[in-house]
Order: sequence, then structure tokens, then C-alpha cells
Amino acid sequence: MPTERGSSEYKVYNDQEPERESLLPSSSGPQQERYASHSCYSKPRFGVNHLLTAFVAGTLACFLAQYAICGSSCFSYREGTPETAPTDVQALASPWAGSTERHNFPPANPTNAFPSLFPTSVGYAGKTPTGAEAAIVATAPSYPLHTASPQLVAPPPGAPKGKLPKEPFDLFKKWGNLSPWYSVPRTAFGVDSGPETPPTCRVTGLHLLHRHGARYPTAYASYGGPANFSSRLHAVADKWTASGELEFMNEWTYKLGEEILTPFGRQQLFDLGISTRLKYGFLLKNFTESNTIPVFRTESQDRMLASAMNFAIGFFGYPFEGQYQQSITIEAHGFNNTLAPYKTCPNANDPLKADRGRAKVAQWAGVYLAGAVGRLRPLIKGYELQVEDVYVLQQLCAYETVALGYSKFCELFTEEEWDGFDYSLDLYFWYNSAFGFALGRPLGIGYVQELVARLTHTPIATHNSSTNGTLNDDPTTFPLGQSLYVDATHEVVVLQVLTALGLSTLAAEGTLPADHMPQNRTFRARELAPFATNVHFQLLSCTSLPGPQIRVIVNDGIVPLTGLAGCGAQKDGMCSVEAFVEAQRENIGKTDWEWACHGDWDVPEEWETTTGEPPARGAR
Ligand SMILES: *[C@@H]1O[C@H](CO)[C@@H](O)[C@H](O)[C@H]1NC(C)=O
Ligand SMILES: *[C@@H]1O[C@H](CO)[C@@H](O)[C@H](O)[C@H]1NC(C)=O
Ligand SMILES: *[C@@H]1O[C@H](CO)[C@@H](O)[C@H](O)[C@H]1NC(C)=O
Ligand SMILES: *[C@@H]1O[C@H](CO)[C@@H](O)[C@H](O)[C@H]1NC(C)=O
Ligand SMILES: *[C@@H]1O[C@H](CO)[C@@H](O)[C@H](O)[C@H]1NC(C)=O
Ligand SMILES: *[C@@H]1O[C@H](CO)[C@@H](O)[C@H](O)[C@H]1NC(C)=O
Repeated sequence: MPTERGSSEYKVYNDQEPERESLLPSSSGPQQERYASHSCYSKPRFGVNHLLTAFVAGTLACFLAQYAICGSSCFSYREGTPETAPTDVQALASPWAGSTERHNFPPANPTNAFPSLFPTSVGYAGKTPTGAEAAIVATAPSYPLHTASPQLVAPPPGAPKGKLPKEPFDLFKKWGNLSPWYSVPRTAFGVDSGPETPPTCRVTGLHLLHRHGARYPTAYASYGGPANFSSRLHAVADKWTASGELEFMNEWTYKLGEEILTPFGRQQLFDLGISTRLKYGFLLKNFTESNTIPVFRTESQDRMLASAMNFAIGFFGYPFEGQYQQSITIEAHGFNNTLAPYKTCPNANDPLKADRGRAKVAQWAGVYLAGAVGRLRPLIKGYELQVEDVYVLQQLCAYETVALGYSKFCELFTEEEWDGFDYSLDLYFWYNSAFGFALGRPLGIGYVQELVARLTHTPIATHNSSTNGTLNDDPTTFPLGQSLYVDATHEVVVLQVLTALGLSTLAAEGTLPADHMPQNRTFRARELAPFATNVHFQLLSCTSLPGPQIRVIVNDGIVPLTGLAGCGAQKDGMCSVEAFVEAQRENIGKTDWEWACHGDWDVPEEWETTTGEPPARGAR
């Protein structure tokens, strides 16, 4: 599946809003009884040519199951066409079906571009007095939760007539790392407390580690991969034809690019910047007092840089120049970079060591998609849908939604199948990035070393992991006295950092099975590593506790620190910075980068780790 990696990297709102919950059927049964086709909803996405051709060919009939509700938006020529109409399904897919469609904007040399007539600064700004900084985390009676993705459209209700859905179902929370971030339930990770300042405390600092926003699929896919599927399909477009619920595919084109941020992804980071300013803006007072500006970090990759810029315009407003400095580290082979550590670690690019996730996902897909394959395969004649193809149809739902705002593919699956998809991503990231990954801790340790340096105001002593001495040893590029740090990275790195930190309560259930789905699990990709996931290392000073305190807050859920030596069970999830740092020094000390990244080890079939470490030296 597409992940953060290129070829070498591995890569509340209270569930109340009915339109946003996808009321998909949840039991199995004959397809015809269970589904209503809603191609009328996706129709406007086709170009004029497509529409005309389709009209002539008569292949765009809106196949509605007899009891489907179709509003006035249905065009009359498609109304009421029975699902099994033989004349419609005999036409082959359009020659362009599955082909890639791109709209190259902006044009390279627009004829009306005269920058001199459109100066960006004309003066006359009016009065510009500013006010005081916001401090929601300290001042408001409750903490604002992030609950919805208002621009995205979920599929219309498709439950069979007479059958009420079991419970609210939010499709956008069933996509693992492809889910848009949301505030996890308050006790998701086991601490019954919230991000707001606990009584007797005040917040003194924040280290924010976040992921980029929603993106197109990555070039590399370990399992599945939408572009690859559309090419396969297009290659034989003159041979296949789809009917029933898949009929829309006869006219479907592949509209996704690769790697870069989508408009929705841009908004996620802009929103994150604004919400961070509202919650923690008061931390800027510290900079004014010390006559400095913050240094934030991101990486050279297009979506990473674009994410950081969108965060900055949200956080600082326009124009942000002069308000902070952006460190753009290089993400490429041969460059030490804690935000892209796999580039420094050769073993991370060896599929035998670093891609156990693929086999696990393939095995699990064979289990949970068996019914879907049986249901969908007969709907395409001339191309035999494989399990991996059907998995891609689920990926397409997620990717098209976060890129184009809506996807017809979302209507094809049951709730159980979406739970299965979500779990496939837990499996993938458990084995390829986090606690079940032999390189989880080594790859995350560089960031932990930086965190310790910042928490102790002490430079890193030895650069023997992914840290970059050139940048880290220079107090200008890697300052140590800031009250606010913001770092942008990839989901795999966020998971590696959580693993390296030894937050073992996130791995409470031990290993994850590929033959069934454990209902009760704390390791969920959608809660830990969704698009724009954000980890707060919140620093506090409390009259009730000795010394500075720290909390780890993932997507507004407080993570217990009880797995760390010296950090007891504190009701708000706090640990003294001193004990936390001591535990992290231990984690750093027991990490053997040389062996992990350059050692000649392999992973036996039955071997498992739950701490993200490779087999010990001499174990083979
Ligand atoms: C699709 O994937 C297969 C196997 O991973 C590969 O051999 C093939 O070249 C890919 N095709 C495209 C069009 O990407
Ligand atoms: C450290 O980062 C700088 C700036 O990105 C880069 O020029 C340098 O090559 C890096 N050093 C190493 C050893 O990768
Ligand atoms: C880059 O990383 C390698 C491997 O950990 C290390 O030996 C080297 O000193 C680092 N270089 C710099 C400039 O930090
Ligand atoms: C700013 O914050 C840092 C980190 O919390 C702290 O060490 C420093 O004393 C503060 N500086 C001022 C001027 O308040
Ligand atoms: C789920 O796991 C938690 C923590 O391991 C445990 O306390 C709880 O009893 C479990 N619930 C079920 C229904 O198994
Ligand atoms: C780096 O070197 C130090 C001192 O030799 C060692 O204690 C530590 O484990 C090493 N760290 C890594 C990440 O290899």
C-alpha cells in the first residue's frame, strides 16, 4: 500500500451529524438486496466529453436498486434503469476507462500575467495595532476538540430498506493512516484527563511533532497501490465491462497525482496552525522577552515544505516573514535527518528486514475481503478482480475523498469491510514502523536524542544515529532554549518516535494477528498516525508536584507514561521531566544504531518484537 516512503523509504465532532456518517450495510446477503447505487452523486465529476459520450453510449444509466431513494438531482435519462439492464452492461468500458487524467494548473506561460501591474505591497494598510495572545489551554473551561472534516463528503446512506444501521458509523475514521486526524476519545490511551491545564499547574512549553496533511498516493506501494491498478485496468480497457454497482467504472478515470498535498491536506495544516496559536499563543511572550524568534523544522519534500508553510500561515498569519525561521532539512539518501531517519539507515531499505507488513496485510486482506471479492468480481466481465484489486478499491475511496472531496468507491463496502481495512493499516504500521518493527526504536531514537537535548538545554554529545551534527551543534539552527518547537515529519517517523520513547502502553496487546482482528486494541494507525497527526510534548509547572512536568498528548489523548522507569501513574498523565529524561537516556543507551542499521541480521519467520528492536547481536 502507498505509505510515506519513496522507493527506498518505508515507507468530536460527536458523531452526531448524520450526513457525515456512512450508513453502509453491515451484514452480508445478496448484493441486489443490499445496495443502492448512487451514481447520480458522482456524475458531475466527469468532464463534458465524458458526459456526452456516455449519454450517446447509454452507459451512464443511474442504476438504482428498486427501493433506493433518488432525489431531484437524478437526471431523467438515468432514472429508474434497472440494475441488471442487459443492453447497458454489454457496452465495453470507454476507451479511456482507468486512464490517468490531469489538469495542469497553472499554465506555464499565461498570456495575462503582468506582475508589475499587480504589486504585492501598495501601502495604506490602515491602523495595525495588535492584541494579546490567546491561551485556550490555560484559560478556557474546556478544550476545543477536532471533530470533523467539513469539506469532505461521505457516501449517502445505503442501508437496505427497513434495516436501521447499528450505530453511528464514521467512514472517515476507518482509513488507518489515511484518515484525517481527529481528537481521539478522552480515555483512548488509558488516562482519564484532557489536554487542558490540570489544576495547580501552568503550561510552560510545547514541543509539537506533526505529520503533513492529506496527500495523493505515494509512488511506492508495498501492497495495493491505486495508480498501478488503474494502469492494469486501462491496459485492457477494450476488453472489460463493469455492471451493477461497478458500472460507474466504465467511465471512471484516475485523477490522482502522486506524493503532494491535496487542497484538503493544505487546510488541515492551516487549521492546525490556527488551533495551535489559539491554544498556545501565549508561549510567544517568552520569545519577545528574550528578543528572539522561533525556529520550526520541516523537510525538503514538497508536501513537507507545503505543510510547514500552511501551518505557518495559520499560526503566524500573512505575512509570516520575520516572525519565525524555518529550518528545511534535506530528505534524501546520504543526509542525516532525524525527520527522515530511514535515509541514514541502509537496513531500513532492505525489504527482507523492513517489509514484513506486506505479507501480513496480504494475509489479512484474503480473510476480510473474501466476501467483497465474491460480490464484486462478477460485476466486471473481462478482467478478473483479485483480492489486491479489491483492496485498492478501498484505498481509492480514501484517496479520492481526501483529494477530490468525494469518492464513489466508498459505497462499495460494508462496515465490517471498512473495519477490516482500518485494521490492515494497523497491521502494516505495527510491523513496518512501530513496536513490531525491528527498526522502530533505532529509527525513532534520533528525534528522542534531540528531545532530550531540548529538555535539558544540552547539545547532543555523539552523533551516532540519524542526528545531523552540522545542524544540531549550531544553536542558531537547533536552538535549545525555546518555549515552543514545531517539527513536521511523516507518519512512519511519528510511529518510530513513539516506539523509541518506550510508550509501551500503546503496545499493550502484544503482537497483532493477521488471521483475525482483535476488537480491543490500543495500537491504531488512525489514532496515532492519521493525516496531520499531532503529538504534543506539553511542559508544565505545578504547585502540587516537585520540578517541571511533562505529558505526551497524541491527537488530544493523554498517553500514559507508566511504562517508563521512574514515571508513576499520575492522574493527568504527568511525569517529572527529570525522570522522563532519565528513562529516555536509558532508551538511547540501549539503542545500537550500528548493529540495527548496518548489522547482518535477519528476521526469522516466527520472530517477534514488541519494543521495535532487531534480533540481538549474535542471535543467529
Ligand atoms: C504494478 O506492480 C507490479 C508488481 O508490483 C509491477 O511489476 C508493475 O510494473 C506495476 N505496474 C505499474 C503500471 O505500476
Ligand atoms: C546535515 O544537514 C545539512 C543541511 O541539510 C546538510 O547539508 C548536511 O549534508 C547534513 N549532514 C549529513 C552528514 O548528512
Ligand atoms: C551522520 O550519521 C552517521 C551515522 O550515525 C554518523 O556516523 C555521522 O557522524 C553523522 N554525521 C553528522 C555530521 O552528524
Ligand atoms: C523561555 O522558555 C524557556 C523554555 O521554557 C526558558 O528556559 C526560558 O527561561 C524562558 N525565557 C524567558 C525570558 O522567559
Ligand atoms: C480491553 O483492554 C483493556 C486494557 O488491556 C482491559 O482493561 C479491558 O478489560 C479490555 N476489554 C475487553 C472487552 O476485553
Ligand atoms: C552512541 O554512542 C554511545 C557511546 O558510545 C552509546 O552509548 C550509544 O548507545 C550510541 N547510540 C546509538 C544510537 O547507537
